[in-house]
Amino acid sequence: MSQSSAAPAIAHNKPPEILSLIGDTPLVEATQFETGPCRLFLKLENQNPGGSIKDRIALSMIEAAEADGKLEPGGTVIEATAGNTGLGLALVAGAKGYRVLLVIPDKMSQEKISHVRALGAEVRIARSDVTRGHPEYYQDVAARLAEQIPGSFYVNQFGNPANPHAHERTTGPEIWEQMRHDVDAVVVGVGSGGTLTGLGRFFNRVKPRRGIEMVLADPTGSILYEYVKTGQLVKSGSWAVEGIGEDFIPEIADMSLVTEAFEIDDAESFAAARELLRKEGIFGGSSTGTLLAGALRYCREQTKPKRVVTLVPDTGNKYLSKMYNNFWMAEQGFIHRPPHGDLSDLISHRHEAGEVITVGPDDSLLTAFKRMRDSDLSQLPVVDKSGRAIGIIDESDLLVKVHREPSHFNDPVSKAMTDQLETLPPDAKIADLLGVFDRGRVAIVMDDNKFLGLITRTDLLSYLRLHMPKSSTPPEREFV
Ligand SMILES: Cc1ncc(COP(=O)(O)O)c(C=O)c1O
Repeated sequence: MSQSSAAPAIAHNKPPEILSLIGDTPLVEATQFETGPCRLFLKLENQNPGGSIKDRIALSMIEAAEADGKLEPGGTVIEATAGNTGLGLALVAGAKGYRVLLVIPDKMSQEKISHVRALGAEVRIARSDVTRGHPEYYQDVAARLAEQIPGSFYVNQFGNPANPHAHERTTGPEIWEQMRHDVDAVVVGVGSGGTLTGLGRFFNRVKPRRGIEMVLADPTGSILYEYVKTGQLVKSGSWAVEGIGEDFIPEIADMSLVTEAFEIDDAESFAAARELLRKEGIFGGSSTGTLLAGALRYCREQTKPKRVVTLVPDTGNKYLSKMYNNFWMAEQGFIHRPPHGDLSDLISHRHEAGEVITVGPDDSLLTAFKRMRDSDLSQLPVVDKSGRAIGIIDESDLLVKVHREPSHFNDPVSKAMTDQLETLPPDAKIADLLGVFDRGRVAIVMDDNKFLGLITRTDLLSYLRLHMPKSSTPPEREFV
């Protein structure tokens, strides 16, 4: 083989170039919102390669550990998180050739676990129902693993000075340049406190004596808002916004930097994030909504014109099945449909609105099976051309037909479906539903001949949960 046709040599010991794309994110003005006398600018941290602001701290914490000799080639990076920090570390440490071990609480979604695994991280599942000090608490598990595994480095974003340092050194100066040295207020959230502490230190330095306000936007239920306002540590509640809000004050969070605080509930956060996507085309996560809502409140309260900056800390991709999904929003009580006061209030997917996945009597069993698999359903109503529900087909009906002879997947649905339907009128009672469930069936709600939708056990459970008194909802920990 001649020299010229040889493949170019791969430069070893050099991490992939994607790491050089962390940071230097764009900043845009939000022009479609009512901002009182102020101008509001958004720093698009969702455009980092790993999709969040945490790429910055992952890079900074790994580089600091390398410089301090805490992490050497062949070493293992350990962290307790399933949040964006886990993704950032899996990306950065993985690209640099380290083994990455993440301890993840068992309540985290499969999507997040799949994402870090796809990046090459190893995952250990820990209990999410125990608190600090319990041996199976996820942070204690991570600390113990770090003691046991030779050559390992426990990142600990909550106490690692390289976390705020990343923002003091990169995020702050970028905002300062992009705003042409003209900033009056910065609105942030606190998870580990890295963003607040790093940006607060930087802006105090460039415009001393609190020349730039640091405004906290905190989810209702977190203890931080109350701490800023009163100095009291109250009992935490629960909230659904991800990545920000705490039930303790993290070691690296310098709360004395906060000059003003707003408390934003989940409903307002989700509505603001959804509006941001529709009005400005910016696809942020749930905490983007909290920060935007806090920034808008701050702006509208001002009497003088101010230049205000907030962040879009992560991408909306991870929230497609939650905050951006109308069924999830309705199930959680964030979107309200006008109540009818009858069983139709329990129908999560309405046939009339085209929300029910159905199958026709002449479709093949294979079609029915694929539809069930694709939408994660275990049964489908069989609806004829006139829109009448004439049967129901579930996994056992399919199995009975195909278990001996898989070619029966080509048979029509009408041959396998159950036509003994458990139909209920909309004015039936919950007790009637329980009877249907006891017989192992789902309820088909029919208004005379009109098929309205199905009610499953899960629909009833979601409905009852929504009607549970707020005061009896147990607090939940946040994992950043
Ligand atoms: C998703 C998400 N994670 C983390 C953070 C901030 O975290 P930290 O306080 O750890 O810097 C934010 C802040 O806005 C966030 O939205």
